Amino acid sequence: MIQRISEKELEAQREYAEKVKTAVSAAGSEKGRALRFCVVTYGCQQNEADSERLAGMLYSMGYEKTETDADADVILVNTCAVREHAEKRALSVTGQYKHLKEKNPDLIIGVCGCMVSQEHRLDDIKHRYPYVDIVFGTSYLWRLPEILYRRLSRRKRLFLLDTGDDGNIAEDVPVLRECGYRAWLSVMYGCNNFCTYCVVPHVRGRERSRYREDILKEARALVADGVKDITLLGQNVNSYGRGLYEDYGFPELLSDINAIDGDFTLRFMTSHPKDATRKLIDTMASCEKVAPQLHLPLQSGSDGVLRRMNRHYTLDSYKRLIDYAREKIPDLTLTSDIMVGFPGETEEDFEATLGALRDIRYDMVYSFIYSRRKNTPAAEYEDQIPEQIKHERFERMLQLQNGIGFEINRGYVGKTVRVLCDGESKNDPSTLSGRTAGGKNVCFTGTCAAGEYADVKITEARPFVLCGETAEKGDKNDDI
Ligand code: 5AD
Ligand code: SF4
Repeated sequence: MIQRISEKELEAQREYAEKVKTAVSAAGSEKGRALRFCVVTYGCQQNEADSERLAGMLYSMGYEKTETDADADVILVNTCAVREHAEKRALSVTGQYKHLKEKNPDLIIGVCGCMVSQEHRLDDIKHRYPYVDIVFGTSYLWRLPEILYRRLSRRKRLFLLDTGDDGNIAEDVPVLRECGYRAWLSVMYGCNNFCTYCVVPHVRGRERSRYREDILKEARALVADGVKDITLLGQNVNSYGRGLYEDYGFPELLSDINAIDGDFTLRFMTSHPKDATRKLIDTMASCEKVAPQLHLPLQSGSDGVLRRMNRHYTLDSYKRLIDYAREKIPDLTLTSDIMVGFPGETEEDFEATLGALRDIRYDMVYSFIYSRRKNTPAAEYEDQIPEQIKHERFERMLQLQNGIGFEINRGYVGKTVRVLCDGESKNDPSTLSGRTAGGKNVCFTGTCAAGEYADVKITEARPFVLCGETAEKGDKNDDI
């Protein structure tokens, strides 16, 4: 049974937060400056959303935000466990904090998120990183005030193993958003799918949906705050409402948010192909605020591999859904996750994936090399693929997909698109960057403030970005 964390428990956290705030204020007076926090984030959008909540709680406890870890009095590393590479990076950055702690013994170092929801990683940190003060998994996030309070008052290290089966949801946790006009909105947590390669159900626990009234309240508040682009988040948004409502699911939720007054765009991720329905596509097509964008991870083009991944769809059923979506939403931007080197993947299986990429023609693909994850079934499969073959396949896939993405982008040259501007481009500050409703990256010249819309005439296509200039008034808006 899904339960909101009770008001009484949340109130207890607010009381802890007040106590920490008093201590932080006293320490600040002693130091002659406000204490500062830094949250370092690895992994997916869900983690980014979690980090904004960690930041919100720290801010409510009187800490100020800094982007520089060396300046901070509290550092939290919000980790990912999906691939080994992400774990290694988080461990390596945590390792570097040893020197900061030597310089400043009052520094509090925390490691949280998916990686430390695995017992072996929690033990690793406990024994190999003695300067780490607090460790807690994702379902303890809302208890940060209590965790900090306990650490500050007792000076004992704190390790909270997340068993992943805490099905509770904490509402009304403070948030400090990174951006004023783009926002994440989690509609559900956890995952029940148990794809055989994936660690997420083990570290984020079982699927649980938020009550629709809580989501709608948050969505209304975001729009009232001037947010123009909302991304609904969940590991598998298409199973939203399961176990909570009889006849209210993700399409109904989309329609309800779409009906909120205001000029904003609504998008969502991630959809599992086995649960994405024609009703979802019809809803996307009929809701004017829902972006023409679909991220639908295929993972592999081989039905045999899909079966062993426990994905519950075939290439054929997937393609039929895509055909339907493209018919209903002609300007659809379609993206996917593709994995190479899953155990037992033959050259023929891999060719089937390349064939699928050629047929489907995604705008963009997030590509991954299979990474063996402890406690997942695929990690035990005997036919693991040698690293060299995995890398070769990865390169071949990239080459093919980059060519396809580039070709699709070239089709935009000469068109005018509406772009939500993100300000100066990071790569070239003399230009601006932003994204279309479909999620295409655009860099452009002209004047436009971050958070405002610009009509941009596309003059050049690159493999991952469209380039252009702000259009003269009167240019036709092709509205992609
Ligand atoms: N190895 C490689 N990629 C993985 N993903 C999930 N688990 C693994 C793994 N063990 C990829 C999938 C998923 C994306 C978020 O990460 O493609 O869709
Ligand atoms: Fe992992 Fe599969 Fe769940 Fe996605 S749907 S989080 S890949 S188990």
